[in-house]
Amino acid sequence: MAILGIESTAHTASVGIVGDRAEVLGLASDMYRPPAGGIHPREAANHHVELLPGLVRQALDAAGVGPESIDAVAFAQGPGLGPCLRAGATVARILALSWEKPLVPVNHCVAHVEIARVLSGLDDPLLLYASGGNTQVIAYGRGRYRVLGETLDVGIGNFLDKLWIELGGTFPGGPALELEARQGHELVELPYSVHGMDVAFSGMLTAALAQHRKGVGRPDLAFSVESTAYAMLTEITERALAHRQRDSVVLGGGVACNERLRSMVRTMVEERGGTMFAPPRAMCVDNGAMIAWTGRLAFDAGLTVPVESSAVQPRQRTDLVPTPWRPA
Ligand code: ATP
Ligand code: FE2
Repeated sequence: MAILGIESTAHTASVGIVGDRAEVLGLASDMYRPPAGGIHPREAANHHVELLPGLVRQALDAAGVGPESIDAVAFAQGPGLGPCLRAGATVARILALSWEKPLVPVNHCVAHVEIARVLSGLDDPLLLYASGGNTQVIAYGRGRYRVLGETLDVGIGNFLDKLWIELGGTFPGGPALELEARQGHELVELPYSVHGMDVAFSGMLTAALAQHRKGVGRPDLAFSVESTAYAMLTEITERALAHRQRDSVVLGGGVACNERLRSMVRTMVEERGGTMFAPPRAMCVDNGAMIAWTGRLAFDAGLTVPVESSAVQPRQRTDLVPTPWRPA
């Protein structure tokens, strides 16, 4: 039997159908790309409302199953943009009611972590979750995913997106900056902002734009930003490894698509004698399969929610949600 998962926390509307061993049976996604500037929550929500019904159909067709094969409907309850979350939650409630299936709430950040963990085959790794709105170093401990370090201002992906848009590009900025950075080689000095196991990016954004105004071209700027920002993430990950006495690291979140970040973290981990795993890109960015898989874990542990109390939680934190599927 399978779980159907709905993702709609920000830019991407996605429906995934996943089997008992995290095999993706069906996945249908569509990313909202604003013509210019950043994401407007209501426009993204309209995109999700329009597309989700068709994505549900496509995912079921791809899996070759009907509603009778679905055990439960999982949805991303938070964190995320309120209107976007509500779009996905509404579709999930309608499916749960009309198919008479249980509804399972899933935390989006925990879902990034769980899909990366199951694909890694590692039981209890340290996790570097680097995405649009979040940047966290996470380890499991005593009933919760514990955030050992995180961004003190914006998520690294939002920082990259904002920079790229300010440089004249369009959302999403991370993949475009990655291509641009491959043409760069001159390292410009930028604020390296590590505070214990936390990081901050807004000073780097201001400094990078100032360098650009002084004539530093996009390739060198992108190269310098990637070098500095990913070195900061590599440093806090190494510090967390040392403190927690772990040897393996799993990457998750959209920024984990980045080859430079992957190779910097891999080098650090392997020099310490450990292993690094990063999922395929489709499982790093927002997708319904990660919601479905985490829904599977939650459902099997008895975690369901009545439709009446399934309100979305735009600020729900990684370390505040129960994870009864992991040993206490
Ligand atoms: P969160 O999980 O914090 O809610 P999100 O849901 O908005 O974030 P994800 O799909 O997990 O987003 O990640 C999207 C982010 O990943 C965007 O900021 C995008 O620019 C960034 N990103 C995607 N590919 C790359 C890449 N190759 N290099 C760097 N950043 C990337
Ligand atoms: Fe995400």
